[in-house]
Amino acid sequence: MDSQPRVALVTGCGGSIGWSTVNNLLREGWIVLGLTRQRKTLESTRGPCPQNLFLFELDARSATSEDFHSKLSLLVSAWEKFPRIQLVVNIAAICPKNWDAFTLLETFSVNVVFPQRLYEVFHYLDMRHYPEPCSVINVSSGDGELCFFNSYWRRAIEQLESYDELTDFMHAVVERVDQAGLQPYAVVHGDEPAYRLSKALLNRLTLLQARTAPSHIRIDAICPGDVKSNMNPLGGQREPSAAAKDILQLAELQHRIVRERCSSRYPHFWRLGKPIPF
Ligand SMILES: NC(=O)c1ccc[n+]([C@@H]2O[C@H](COP(=O)([O-])OP(=O)(O)OC[C@H]3O[C@@H](n4cnc5c(N)ncnc54)[C@H](OP(=O)(O)O)[C@@H]3O)[C@@H](O)[C@H]2O)c1
Repeated sequence: MDSQPRVALVTGCGGSIGWSTVNNLLREGWIVLGLTRQRKTLESTRGPCPQNLFLFELDARSATSEDFHSKLSLLVSAWEKFPRIQLVVNIAAICPKNWDAFTLLETFSVNVVFPQRLYEVFHYLDMRHYPEPCSVINVSSGDGELCFFNSYWRRAIEQLESYDELTDFMHAVVERVDQAGLQPYAVVHGDEPAYRLSKALLNRLTLLQARTAPSHIRIDAICPGDVKSNMNPLGGQREPSAAAKDILQLAELQHRIVRERCSSRYPHFWRLGKPIPF
């Protein structure tokens, strides 16, 4: 069974951290199924695709739309032909400045709903195989730490106990912003409030997924630190390759945790190789 090639599914693979992660995985001998919005551009700007990289095009903004299921079904038929997916890395995200109903809906779609939809697909595909260690990494952000939220909203996020409740919460926020003009400072401190809220919800989603996942699937969130990237053009102490290295190290740790059956000893949030509270 070990002779089967390892397969990873990576989203946002045309981004700074995404492309570095894809390359690190390829170097380590993984087959990578890469999701991107810009397959043609990637193929022309990054050169011919390596043999073990398979790019698929999908825009995550449609993750809340009705036809998303049929778009995913097409991908599932393609992915079924590959060996078992052992690792999912959700990297795709947007970080808008605005706080309005439309922006929030898009941000929730890309940063929260899309990782959940992919998790469902991965779980469905995984059920056809003998249960062996595999894992999911949700790339999140320190900007989603609950300490940035005022106490009412912090409690509301901490009390979300299922994906349905999380979905209702996102709808309610969009509606309150749209109809009652809920202001960002009433919810969270700091810039890019829609991003912060979406990452706090991604962290909560990670915990909910981890609680309900079968014992052979380990699920964690990681903050890549302050990385030079398209999303962070003015800041960035770290190179995308350093963040990609952390992601791969976490993937190795996850597989060890599952093999050694010691999941309860490890928390589910990580930064710079260490567990952190969220
Ligand atoms: N940079 C930092 O300092 C920092 C700090 C904390 C957390 N993070 C997290 O790290 C991850 C990667 O960020 P990055 O810094 O590498 O930013 P980036 O270069 O902007 O990459 C983000 C990628 O997300 C994908 N994406 C955006 N909109 C999408 C959509 N509608 N549908 C599908 N995919 C979409 C795109 O991939 P394609 O181009 O392939 O479509 C995009 O390149 C994000 O989750 C971010 O929140 C970054």
